[in-house]
Amino acid sequence: MLKDLVIKNRSCRGYDNSKGIKRETLLSFVDLARICPAKANHQALRYRLVTDAAEVSAVQRMTRWGMALPELHLPYPGQEAPAFIVLCLDTAVAKRPADYGVDVGIAAQTMALAAAEAGYACLMIESFDRKGISETLKLPEGQYPALCMAFGVSKETAVLEEIGKDGSTKYYRDAQGVHHVPKRRLEDVLL
Ligand SMILES: Cc1cc2nc3c(=O)[nH]c(=O)nc-3n(C[C@H](O)[C@H](O)[C@H](O)COP(=O)(O)O)c2cc1C
Repeated sequence: MLKDLVIKNRSCRGYDNSKGIKRETLLSFVDLARICPAKANHQALRYRLVTDAAEVSAVQRMTRWGMALPELHLPYPGQEAPAFIVLCLDTAVAKRPADYGVDVGIAAQTMALAAAEAGYACLMIESFDRKGISETLKLPEGQYPALCMAFGVSKETAVLEEIGKDGSTKYYRDAQGVHHVPKRRLEDVLL
């Protein structure tokens, strides 16, 4: 059921590195993203798969994970992502990349749900060194890296919970290391 996948699809900041993710699996995610709705059907997104070990660790270093829990320095050593996909906007098509954020989100969530269905987890990462990643991956001229996505098998336990009385949306970890994600109630989001 779609609801089960949406619930299962929690942001993952700790991967089981004894299990990777095949390039063909990542390609199957992109194959779904490419047929998603797109503003004026411009299809401005391009996808750079990152599976080479040296490139994966370079991208890992240039992304920032779990800024709400800075004391944890996520990911823990040995729990880095085994692969990434960098979603880029082709500025020859998307003249103003900022106008294509919805396209990026639709593609990203589609790939995230495909990953959840296939038994994988992922993390959408907006906070990263765009210049560094463009240079390291030798992205073609005119490709704007809009979002990085980490993929792999999760080593974490994450649970959704109803937002508390204090109204905080900040995610947190308990003494057992379980990751808690507070979400607003249905009645809170209706206008
Ligand atoms: C557009 C977008 C950008 C995000 N960027 C980052 C990021 O740079 N680093 C990170 O650790 N998490 C990032 N996240 C993950 C969010 O922190 C996460 O979605 C949020 O804490 C709620 O958790 P959930 O995805 O399990 O519901 C991003 C999520 C989205 C949708």
